[in-house]
Amino acid sequence: MKNEPIILIKNLAKKFDNTFVVKDSNMTVPKGCVYGFLGANGAGKTTIFKVITGLISPTNGTAEVLGFDVTKDREKVLQSIGSLIEAPVFYEHLSASENLELHLDYMGAEGFGTKTALDMVGLNGIGSKPVGKFSLGMRQRLGIARAFIHKPKILILDEPINGLDPIGIRDIRNLFLTLIQKHGMTILLSSHILSEIEHIADVVGVIVNGTVVQEISLEQIKDKMDIRLEEYFFNIMSGGNIS
Ligand SMILES: Nc1ncnc2c1ncn2[C@@H]1O[C@H](COP(=O)(O)OP(=O)(O)OP(=O)(O)O)[C@@H](O)[C@H]1O
Ligand SMILES: [Mg+2]
Repeated sequence: MKNEPIILIKNLAKKFDNTFVVKDSNMTVPKGCVYGFLGANGAGKTTIFKVITGLISPTNGTAEVLGFDVTKDREKVLQSIGSLIEAPVFYEHLSASENLELHLDYMGAEGFGTKTALDMVGLNGIGSKPVGKFSLGMRQRLGIARAFIHKPKILILDEPINGLDPIGIRDIRNLFLTLIQKHGMTILLSSHILSEIEHIADVVGVIVNGTVVQEISLEQIKDKMDIRLEEYFFNIMSGGNIS
């Protein structure tokens, strides 16, 4: 079923140094969609991604992935997720293929295999060049490849098009469609590039000062409200009533 939730977050809160940076947050990511997560710098997007991927634990509330609690069933959750969060860290002296091989070994999966995954992100033929000598965009492409190579059910991508050139952005957009339509994945991503989110997302969530304040389909914004995503977003940011 397309619309059943694959990620479900309830009353989530996260405190750092006695300050709540995420609070009272609920999120529902429907299966088989691209969910675009929007919010200003420091709003709490990466923090929520880190909770979902088990990198940090929630202070309050719950996050479920495929019905499994991210803190209680961490192993099961990790197997079903591929992620790219903040700047990807690699073994700098190893090649792209070697980095991907290590990841596949770690995940115990054959997945797409390194050659196919590198082709899918436009890094074919980069040979044995060590990752330490990659450009910013090449690192980003490799980070995306590492996120999906083991064929997870869910991709969590924090600003995945950062540093990509315009053709790279178009190619990655097509790649996301392939991953969803042919391989049954669901994609949760954040981006500050609203025009890109408008292109690729089916649903958006907006977080303001640590609280997810809106979740809405792009269709609703476009057809029912007859506005662009940018206008919708700026209205929420300025405290406007949009629902
Ligand atoms: N480890 C940490 N210790 C203390 N504060 C933290 C920590 N990680 C994040 N924060 C704070 O939590 C808040 C939310 O940060 P977060 O990285 O989730 O924002 P973001 O929405 O991803 O922003 P951006 O768009 O800039 O990436 C910020 O105020 C940040 O300073
Ligand atoms: Mg962030």
